[in-house]
Amino acid sequence: MPAPTTTESTELNLVVNGGRPLEGTIRVGGAKNSALKLMAATLLAEGTYRLANVPRITDVALMSDLLRATGSEVRWDESGARPVLVVDVPAVIEPVAPYELVEQFRASIVVLGPMLARCGEARVALPGGDDFGPRPIDMHVRGLAELGAEFETRHGYIHASAPNLLGARVLLEFPSVGATENLLMAAVRAKGVTVIDNAAREPEIADLCELLNKMGSRIEGSGSSTLTIEGVEELHSADHTVIADRIEAATYLAALGIAGGEITVEGARHDHMVMLCQKFGEMGMRISPDADGIWAFSGRRLRSSDCSTLPYPGLATDFKPFLVALLATTEGVGIVTENLFSGRFRYVDELRRMGADIRTDSHHAVVRGVERLSGAPVRAHDIRAGAALVIAGLAADGQTTVSEAHHVARGYDDIAGKLRGLGADVVLA
Ligand code: EPU
Repeated sequence: MPAPTTTESTELNLVVNGGRPLEGTIRVGGAKNSALKLMAATLLAEGTYRLANVPRITDVALMSDLLRATGSEVRWDESGARPVLVVDVPAVIEPVAPYELVEQFRASIVVLGPMLARCGEARVALPGGDDFGPRPIDMHVRGLAELGAEFETRHGYIHASAPNLLGARVLLEFPSVGATENLLMAAVRAKGVTVIDNAAREPEIADLCELLNKMGSRIEGSGSSTLTIEGVEELHSADHTVIADRIEAATYLAALGIAGGEITVEGARHDHMVMLCQKFGEMGMRISPDADGIWAFSGRRLRSSDCSTLPYPGLATDFKPFLVALLATTEGVGIVTENLFSGRFRYVDELRRMGADIRTDSHHAVVRGVERLSGAPVRAHDIRAGAALVIAGLAADGQTTVSEAHHVARGYDDIAGKLRGLGADVVLA
């Protein structure tokens, strides 16, 4: 396989012919939202890093390009049973994240912390990213400022400087995933002790803490809302295996709820998605952890349930589009409340084109399940919205064509092929 590139066509569609139940085993990939941060963490120290279970998705290709822009080399080693992403970080890096890359994926903002820690300065273009409302970075900036960084915004770039980062107590006003990660990666090289209170607790953050500790950091409290970091003078490279993608796993489980059948999501971590599995159980799905991942069975139309998104361990906002797609087909009415991103309901208009009965009012959606959706041409506005439309198509009458499939490729490695492996009729065309 070639090295990751960023030449995904915007012309591609995911074409789904509905009506087939899902049967069999599907393997979940490595977590996008962990892999991208682990790649950013490599900027902290010179050396060779071998990252296993990295998904082959567009956002990883973009982050690879971003690391290359700093002077690092990134390639896939395909000599083993599974490809490994190898990052070679030189003794001196260029602490710049160029606009052409940053505007394509918001996760790029997490290079700010490691660049500052390593070089005492960083120049990062202001991020773009998903199409679901404003996504400010004020908490990143305020937290880093408490460690002594100074910021200036000029010509669309944040110029940060901090020749001497100093440990501090930082209380986040919201457990932001990205702000926690940026602070962690700056604090590992700051002088003294940093305490991050109200830190995000997502499993991807614990994964980042694990790599950072392998690199020589001293982080305590991983997985909790208080992270204590004792800064060290030197870090070194390390190898790591990325955790399973709980959001990808959730996609296939919701697909099962929609299409019916019996599947095993191999590699999925039940302990990372307890609340969601509980919710699926409430709706009538049989679901349990097994030795290889998560087993689930859905024999008849599921019941509706109310869902409210919250930071981990609550129901993730990234699960919501799948839950809305599922509730569009269940029996009864479900109220879905979005507590993280104000504009994250755009795909609802697309689901309505498929016959879904959904009303939205500010951050609530009232979803009345219909017996059968009907296939239609629809558009993917972002990664998860696109995947939600694909799984909605699995139970729809006739053909659903999801355009702008490149959004889905940002976060899924071959969603069509994987669903075909379960008997679904989905192609990328
Ligand atoms: N927020 C601020 N100021 C900040 C930072 C965040 O107001 O400085 C707000 C955001 O606008 C949002 C909320 O806080 O309303 C949560 O944002 P958070 O920082 O936690 O999210 P993120 O780091 O930007 C990550 C994931 C998202 C996922 C969210 C929430 C990555 C690359 N992205 O984003 O995943 O939805 O956490 O769990 O890790 C996806 O994978 O498709 C995706 C969008």
